[in-house]
Amino acid sequence: MPVIALLNQKGGVGKTTLSVNLATALAQGHKVLLVDGDPQGSALDWSAQRKNESAIGLFPVIGLPKETLHRELAPISLDYEWVIIDGPPGVNKIARSAIVASDFVIIPVQPSPFDIWAAEDVEETIDECASIKPNLLTRFLVNRLFLNTTLGNEVQEELSKRPFATFQTAIRNRQEYAKAARRGMSALETEPHGPAADEIRAWMEEIIVALNESHHISRESLHVAANR
Ligand SMILES: Nc1ncnc2c1ncn2[C@@H]1O[C@H](COP(=O)(O)OP(=O)(O)O)[C@@H](O)[C@H]1O
Ligand SMILES: [Mg+2]
Repeated sequence: MPVIALLNQKGGVGKTTLSVNLATALAQGHKVLLVDGDPQGSALDWSAQRKNESAIGLFPVIGLPKETLHRELAPISLDYEWVIIDGPPGVNKIARSAIVASDFVIIPVQPSPFDIWAAEDVEETIDECASIKPNLLTRFLVNRLFLNTTLGNEVQEELSKRPFATFQTAIRNRQEYAKAARRGMSALETEPHGPAADEIRAWMEEIIVALNESHHISRESLHVAANR
C-alpha cells in the first residue's frame, strides 16, 4: 500500500483540495484511507459534509495530526491499498512524521517564484529524513495554474533548479474544486467528464507510473491500480 503525503509548510497551496481529489480518484476501485495530518482538520470537515451526500462512495478519513503519525499509521495502513496524508502547515514534527510514514511526498506549489522559493523549508525537512528514507520519491505539483495559460519560463526555470522533479500534469485554477469541496465531494463526482476530473486522473496516472518505476513499493497494489 503506497503512502502518499501532500506536504508544504505554506497554507493555501492546495494540500487539502488535492488530497481529497486524489483520494476520491483512487477510491473509485480501491480501498483508500485519507489521513488528516492538519490540526485544523479540514479533510475531516470535508468528510463530515460528504456523509450528507447520498449516492457517492464513502471511504474512511481519520485525524492523526500528531508527531507519532508514522507509528500509529503503520498498523492501520496495512488494511488499505492506498493511503493519502493531507499534511499540516508549518515545518514541524508532524510534517517530519508524515515524511517518515510515506513512500511518496508531493509538494504542491502555486506557479510563482515566491511559492517555489518558499518550498525550501519542506525540501530541507525531506533532506533531514534522507538517511532513514533513502527510497523516498518526491515531486513538485503545480497547482492553480491560470486557465488557458502555460507555465511561464520564469517558473519553469525556478522549478528546474530544485532538487526534485515536477509532475508534467499541472492542476489549473478551477472553481469546480472549491464548489465540489463545499459539499464534501471531489470534481470527479460533480463533473466526472469535466476538465478538472481529467487532470486529476492524469496526475494520478503519473503517480502510478512513478511508483511502478521505483522498486521499493508493494508490487501488488500497484499492479491492481495500473490495470484498473
Ligand atoms: N486548483 C484550484 N483551483 C481553484 N481553487 C483552488 C485550487 N486549489 C486550491 N484551491 C482553493 O484554495 C484554497 C486553499 O486550498 P487548500 O486545499 O485548503 O490549501 P492547503 O490545504 O494547502 O491550506 C481553498 O479555498 C481551495 O478551494
Ligand atoms: Mg489544508
